[in-house]
Amino acid sequence: MFYRYEDGHGLPHDPLKAIVSPRPIGWISSRSKEGKVNLAPYSFFNMISTKPCMLMFSSEGYKDSVAFIEETGEFAANLVSANLSVAMNATSVNAPRGVSEFEYSGLTPTDCTLIGAPRVAEAYATLECVLTDVQNPKDRHGNPVSAFVVIGEVVGVHINEAILTNGLVDMTKAQPVSRLGYMDFASVSETFQMFRPRWNESGS
Ligand SMILES: Cc1cc2nc3c(=O)[nH]c(=O)nc-3n(C[C@H](O)[C@H](O)[C@H](O)COP(=O)(O)O)c2cc1C
Repeated sequence: MFYRYEDGHGLPHDPLKAIVSPRPIGWISSRSKEGKVNLAPYSFFNMISTKPCMLMFSSEGYKDSVAFIEETGEFAANLVSANLSVAMNATSVNAPRGVSEFEYSGLTPTDCTLIGAPRVAEAYATLECVLTDVQNPKDRHGNPVSAFVVIGEVVGVHINEAILTNGLVDMTKAQPVSRLGYMDFASVSETFQMFRPRWNESGS
């Protein structure tokens, strides 16, 4: 099948998020200028650069995470492991500004090392970030869309050594959870390796 996006898909549910999947989940913790803490999952999330290490998430609408991060200029991205999926989902509740999703979901906020935002004590890994930019993208007609892309530079990295095997982050221990389409999620149960080809002058 093919459809022009604007004509609609004719399927029971929008397939787009299932096609762009699996998506990693950035579990974003932040603090407001009054010191209130906030925690929410964002699957429009990824690393965008390694030197320096930068990452982004996108908020559809100007949500509390974006507001808090703009106020204090810092946030943390926590890793969601399979054992934390129910708690992660609870933190997506549309609670009013100022209600702590840590408390709502029974998670423990703990201090970051280099930034003022809290982190999830139960998470196997956390990336401490300094805000570099909030962008409001435009559609193809040049009209601003209702998404806010938050970009940050990673300044500190927490890893619980329980997920390391011979110094490598072991996916079978970390069991990262990703977002699929619809109401579906996945966690990593199998991995395989590939090595990138190197071009040589003979073309072989
Ligand atoms: C797994 C998962 C992924 C989500 N990803 C996004 C996302 O990428 N962008 C977004 O705007 N909302 C996303 N949401 C919804 C937000 O988590 C939800 O609106 C939340 O209340 C926002 O919290 P905040 O206002 O405290 O920032 C997601 C929810 C879940 C459960």
